[in-house]
Amino acid sequence: MIEVCFVCLGNICRSPLAQGVFEKCVADEGLQDQIQVSSAGTGNWHIGSPPDGRMQETANKHGVQLNSRGQQFQPADFFNFDLILAMDDSNLSILEQMCPNPQKAENLKLFRSFDPENNGDLDVPDPYYGGGKGFEIVYEIVNRTCPKILEFIKTRVK
Ligand code: 4NP
Repeated sequence: MIEVCFVCLGNICRSPLAQGVFEKCVADEGLQDQIQVSSAGTGNWHIGSPPDGRMQETANKHGVQLNSRGQQFQPADFFNFDLILAMDDSNLSILEQMCPNPQKAENLKLFRSFDPENNGDLDVPDPYYGGGKGFEIVYEIVNRTCPKILEFIKTRVK
């Protein structure tokens, strides 16, 4: 079993969407018994909360259900996950600071390092304080990047 965790700041917008889209990619390939998907935030404000309504609406429009509840990433989680994907550079910095050892740091990567259209921009923009278009932009980035992450993981599963 490979365990993957997507991490953003609040765990109510970007990482729940990445979890939902990635779960769909995994299910489409029948790999749900081999790959387990989760998400978390570096912050603690939204522990127990469902995803932001605007993110849910965007996801649902594209046929994706979001089922996560907010949780905060803990240092011990480095021992639970094989791949930890930070949605932006500030999330990555916080994760690096709580990482217990250099070996575990190898499991930590930026989500958009897998984005074929990143053009050098490695942050998924935080949509929380912006307008509706921000959520659609996040969806587009996540939707084209998740299949690439699955390709990467499949090279490890087999
Ligand atoms: P997320 O967005 O990190 O994509 O879940 C945010 C959600 C909430 C807050 C910030 C970002 N907040 O400050 O409460």
